[in-house]
Amino acid sequence: MSQTLALLGGKPVITRSMPAYNPLGEEEALAAADVVRSGVLSGYLGSNHPDFWGGPRVRLMEEAFAKRLDAPWAVSMNSASSCLYAAVAALGVGPGDEVIVPPYTMCATVTSVLCVNAIPVFADIEDQTFGLDPQSVERAISPRTKAIIVVHLFGHMARMDAILDIARRHGLMVIEDCAQAPGATDNGRQAGTMGDIGVFSLNCHKVINTGEGGVAVCRDEELRNRMALVRNHGEAVIGGGFKVASLSNMLGFNLRMGEIEAAIGTIQLGRLDGLNARRQELASRLSQRLAGMPGVIPPAVRPGCEHVWYVYPLRIDARALSVGRNLFVKALAAEGAPFYPGYVAPLYTLPMFQQRIGFGDAGCPFECERNRESRPSYVPGTCPVCERVETHELMASECIRPPLADRDVDDMAQAFEKVLQNLDSLRQLQDDSQEALPVDPAGRRKAYRRQGDGA
Ligand SMILES: Cc1ncc(COP(=O)(O)O)c(C=O)c1O
Repeated sequence: MSQTLALLGGKPVITRSMPAYNPLGEEEALAAADVVRSGVLSGYLGSNHPDFWGGPRVRLMEEAFAKRLDAPWAVSMNSASSCLYAAVAALGVGPGDEVIVPPYTMCATVTSVLCVNAIPVFADIEDQTFGLDPQSVERAISPRTKAIIVVHLFGHMARMDAILDIARRHGLMVIEDCAQAPGATDNGRQAGTMGDIGVFSLNCHKVINTGEGGVAVCRDEELRNRMALVRNHGEAVIGGGFKVASLSNMLGFNLRMGEIEAAIGTIQLGRLDGLNARRQELASRLSQRLAGMPGVIPPAVRPGCEHVWYVYPLRIDARALSVGRNLFVKALAAEGAPFYPGYVAPLYTLPMFQQRIGFGDAGCPFECERNRESRPSYVPGTCPVCERVETHELMASECIRPPLADRDVDDMAQAFEKVLQNLDSLRQLQDDSQEALPVDPAGRRKAYRRQGDGA
């Protein structure tokens, strides 16, 4: 192994590119071709008719999801974003309501709340597994709180027992955003089955890949009907004997999934356990190789939980290394180990929250009369754990997805070793990188030492 870092002109540890993620096979190709041959790419009708519920493949896929999740109802849509919107709408959330959300997630988790003119309130995350911190959730509750959206980030379930306990005590509803966590479990209970509604993404980056797509599961028939109405031009079937007590939020969109995606989704769902098992093998191999490396904190898995590794989220202790996270990641990437720094900026830093721009340019829904009492914090410091993790600690990689080989993971671990063996030369670049090192808890910035400083 070259002792000079690739960042400084040495030979990288890994010179090949990692194989691209592709869980699709011949079975999916045949299923898609079958749909094309059938001449029915979508079986939906928007009116009060049996086809209001979609074509045969859509219904089959929904049955398969419901069976797999042991839930009475599954409602497919064209994305998880659509499912999240339909879920929030079906729960009857509206102007004057607040919904507690994490800041560390894909923005659709949070914008679903704005889409019904309600106000997102951010609670902080835990720094071990990155899910909502129940204590922070409890502090965020107000008389206007109506629901909590929990995200099982990166494939690890958030602390559902504690969050459900809070929800029960305060009469709140719970949506589980399982976009990244199909098949994840907590003491045998599957992600998506513990709250009122569970939402899965089938987009092209996800474990089940139909290109675009989403599925929402629930136990309550009225919620299922309300989501189906939001999905398919709700107003067209009103008066058609639907058992829904309330017609709130039934504005009616087309959020429907096509037959090709549904046919592929059913096959992929049948492969879910195998696909997850390979990710688990690769992730645990990488964690074993990284264990004990100084300053490197492999991802935690809470006892009783099964992580399904949408991505591999690693943390580094930049103060211990005296090298900033971004510089460390840059050095690793130069060695051919594809990690990226951070995940997303805390969502309250987005312009829509900083400038309170939602619908139109008059501050709606933030400034609307019905939301007058809601003034949640969107300033820096609102969720300090999330900010610390994102700014200084987290680095993630998708290189635990099939078709990666064991050797790919071993080589990535070797890249870590090389960077760690050459920290002194990396520290030479620290000033040039202009990256601030984290402040220690006592408020003092630990000075890093240059080689030869005599320290
Ligand atoms: C946590 C989370 N929620 C929601 C979504 C939205 O999924 P979709 O692209 O299917 O709308 C994603 C997608 O990346 C996600 O990661």
